[in-house]
Amino acid sequence: MKAGIVKKIMAFAAATTIAISMVGCGSGAADKKQNSLEAIKAKGKLVIGTSADYPPYEFHKEIDGKDQIVGFDIEIAKQFAKDLGVELEIKDMAFDGLLVALQSDKIDMVFSGMTPTDERKQNADFSDLYYTATHRFVLRSGDEASITKMEDLKGKKIGVQKGSIQERIAQENFDKDSIKSLDKVTDLILDLKNNKVDAVLIELPVAEINVQKNEGIAIAKNLEVKDPDGGTAIAMKKNSPELLAEVNKTIKKLKDEDKIKQLVTDANKLVD
Ligand code: ARG
Repeated sequence: MKAGIVKKIMAFAAATTIAISMVGCGSGAADKKQNSLEAIKAKGKLVIGTSADYPPYEFHKEIDGKDQIVGFDIEIAKQFAKDLGVELEIKDMAFDGLLVALQSDKIDMVFSGMTPTDERKQNADFSDLYYTATHRFVLRSGDEASITKMEDLKGKKIGVQKGSIQERIAQENFDKDSIKSLDKVTDLILDLKNNKVDAVLIELPVAEINVQKNEGIAIAKNLEVKDPDGGTAIAMKKNSPELLAEVNKTIKKLKDEDKIKQLVTDANKLVD
């Protein structure tokens, strides 16, 4: 009986010691918690999220019989992964889900033509801007003559990408009922061609490529949408100063070498 108690006490003491040492170890690890940059280097892989529906930024292309995601954002991501000496993994998802995926550690960074708005900056860090573009409406060919100002779009159905700043611009200018928000820009363009929406608001380079690629659609004339927030940056988890500094180095290098323009031109050439 006595021996049993002693054993139990000893076992308890041993367990306590283990627990204490584990706690000690845990807090030590917490002190030295890996920052986002170290975590990427440690796993040897940079996982980025994108919505690959936005040529020339990011889009799908069949290369050697294999579906691939290409575009100038992707080239910048490749360059950054190379600068870090890690592999690159790309996850294609709905634009609206990108910042959520970042919060829940499903991805390390967002390369998706994303504009660093004040609202988004509350939940994510953004790199320096590396590209700017205006927004334009894409219409069915023939409608350019009658739709030349915002008012001409009243009563029409406006298509926008869910969670995008174009959605916000539409909400500021049109009735809720006249806005259709979809996950993918590719589906918006289909809806435009099939008369399900009458205009799609996207960034100009994307509008230009879609008009080249698809018959029967055109860019609205004289209907440029001003956006003081405009521009594209890379998003990462809030409070990632080390990762932020590192990605800004890659962006600076590309800008200094005047490479971004070249990457955009190359991406335009890849569109079928
Ligand atoms: N620049 C816009 C925004 O930040 C649209 C970006 C859409 N990007 C995309 N890959 N579909 O809201």
